[in-house]
This record gives sequence, C-alpha cells and structure tokens, in this order.
Amino acid sequence: MRVLLINGPNLNLLGKRAPEIYGGHTLAELEEKVVAWGAELGAQVETLQSNDESELISAVQTSGHDAILLNPAAFTHTSRGLAEAIASVETPTVEVHISNIREREPWRAHSMIADSCVRTIYGRGVAGYRDGLRHLVNRAAAPVEAVRYGPHSENVGDLRLGGRGLVVLVHGGFWRHERERDSMEPLAVDLGRRGFNTWNIEYRRLERGGGWPGAFHDTLMALDFVPQLGLDSGSVGVVGHQAGAVLAMWAARRTGAEVGRVAAMAPVTDLRKHAESGLTGAREACRLLGSGAPARPDPGRAPTMLVHGTRDRHVPPEHSEALASERGLQLLSPETDHFELLDPRGDHWEDVAAALGDPA
Ligand code: DQA
Repeated sequence: MRVLLINGPNLNLLGKRAPEIYGGHTLAELEEKVVAWGAELGAQVETLQSNDESELISAVQTSGHDAILLNPAAFTHTSRGLAEAIASVETPTVEVHISNIREREPWRAHSMIADSCVRTIYGRGVAGYRDGLRHLVNRAAAPVEAVRYGPHSENVGDLRLGGRGLVVLVHGGFWRHERERDSMEPLAVDLGRRGFNTWNIEYRRLERGGGWPGAFHDTLMALDFVPQLGLDSGSVGVVGHQAGAVLAMWAARRTGAEVGRVAAMAPVTDLRKHAESGLTGAREACRLLGSGAPARPDPGRAPTMLVHGTRDRHVPPEHSEALASERGLQLLSPETDHFELLDPRGDHWEDVAAALGDPA
C-alpha cells in the first residue's frame, strides 16, 4: 500500500513554531517517524510539504497513491478548494492535526475538510499520524461499512463482515472526545481473520453530549441495535477497553440483545479511586461522578472476564483485581502495559479470542 503524507502551510516550521503546542519535532523528524511507522504497518509512505494551496490541491488530484494522510494546517479552516479536491477523488484521506483543534480558539474548532475525509484525528500529538496511518491500513485490510444505530452523529459503528457470529468493540480513552474507535481496529481486523464479524462502535464522548449518561446510553443503544444488523449472529461477544470496558459491562447488563461473553480490558472499575489518583483520566472520572455516574461497574448476566496488564500505569491493575475478587470474575493478568492490550499479537489476545468462542 502506498500512502502520501501531506503536510500543509507552516508545518515546515515544526520544531521552531509554538513547540508548546506542536512539540519539538522538526518536519524531517516527523516525516522520518511516519515513514518508519508505515514500514511497520506494511505501508510505503512518501512525503510532501507545501505552503501553497494550489500545490496541495494538485497533489490530492494527481497523487496516484492508495491513500493520503493529510495535515491541512491552516487550510483546514479556510479551504473549500482543498475539501472539494479530496471529495472529487477516490483516494481515501485521513485528516490529522497535532494539536487539539477543538480546545483552542473557537475558529479552529471547525474543519472545512472533515466531511471529505474518511476520518479526522486530532489532539493526540505526533502519535495522531501513526493512528491515521493505522486507520488507512486497517480500512484497506477488509471492507468496512459504517452503520448508524441512533440519532447523534456519533451513533455509528464500523461493521466488518465476512465471518460468522458478532463481536462488538467499545473503545476507551477516558471518555475524551479526541479518542475514537480507531484504537480498536487492530483487534477488529484480527477478529475478522479469525472468522468473526465485528462492529466497532463510536459513542458520544465528553464535550459532545457524552460522559454520563450519554456514552452509557449510546453503548446500550448500540447493543440493542444488534438484532437490526440482520446477521442472525446468535449470542454476541462484547470487548471493551478502559472506559469502553466500563461501558461494555454496563450496557451488557441492560441490553435486550443476547450477550454471550464480555471481555473487559483494563477497566476503570472504581471511578472514585481514579478521580483521586491524579493519573490521566482523573479529571474525567471526576466529571462523570459529578454528573451522577455509578462509581463501580455492575457486571452480571453475561459471563464477564477481566483482562488487565500487570504493567498498566494508566489504570492500575488493582482496578480489575478488586472487581474480580468481589464478583468472582475470571481475571487474566498478562505482563503488558495499558496499550499492549490493544495489540492482537500479544499472548493475552489468544485467550480473549478463545473465550469469545468459535464463531457459531
Ligand atoms: C494544525 C492545527 C491548525 O489549526 C493549524 O493552523 C496548524 C496545525 C495541527 O496540526 O494541530 O497549522 O493542523
């Protein structure tokens, strides 16, 4: 797969330009990183930077690449021409921003480009380029259909068919809006290879009507929607990570759909404890508690397994240990960190996939 990385105006100044916002990487260092990530993911990345709008439009029109990873920089907020170029070609384009454009000046929050792109990733620093590339690679791996399950723009999930059964994936990210379902794609693609259909759902997150109860109700709405996917899938597996694991447990208990198994990976099982921890996500845990979210999940009905890396520094393993011993739940404790749980090459994933059962 050949991917063109395009960086727009003023990104040639990376390293010198507002490093407190964009980080200390120079453009050359950033490009080198993206090329290396591409090599790991099996994508050949070529790079282009330009301050010239017409050059960017021509590059989009004529690239001949399989996909484009684009940081449109300031043209994000001004260029209908660039948006129309992206919309006029078949090449899937991911829009990426280093900074959190939704938490800066109000004029930056709107992207004219977003509607023409297959995904917009923002607020994750330079790692957003890796995530964007991974999304392009995973999109190309198997056909994906976006299926809506509710009235909000976030009530959508990526359905990957071709197998049997169904596993619903619920991503984490401490309920924050810049964290989206792309983090679960490697697991979705792997489950597809193992013969499962998957549905990787989005839900409303903080600042977008999410948190409590929005994100919880959305997840429940998605599970309730499963029969309407028309898959005749029998019982459904649900896999959640971190905040998504909490949502998965909450919704699996309440849904009318038949859930055969929940795998809760690195769940935040004690919101109060997390709110007081000072760790990433403490502020969000506080906000959820403040709006009345249940402090502890209440697993039940479907058999639930907990999976928690012993080296997890984001959500300490005590979260799962406490819930497992209180509720007598199965606990896997692989020697991984928080994010390695999302890597299907890890040994723990064999166990989770096996627990999800042979596709019926
Ligand atoms: C940017 C955000 C834009 O608003 C800004 O004009 C940039 C960089 C980012 O990567 O965060 O130049 O795209």
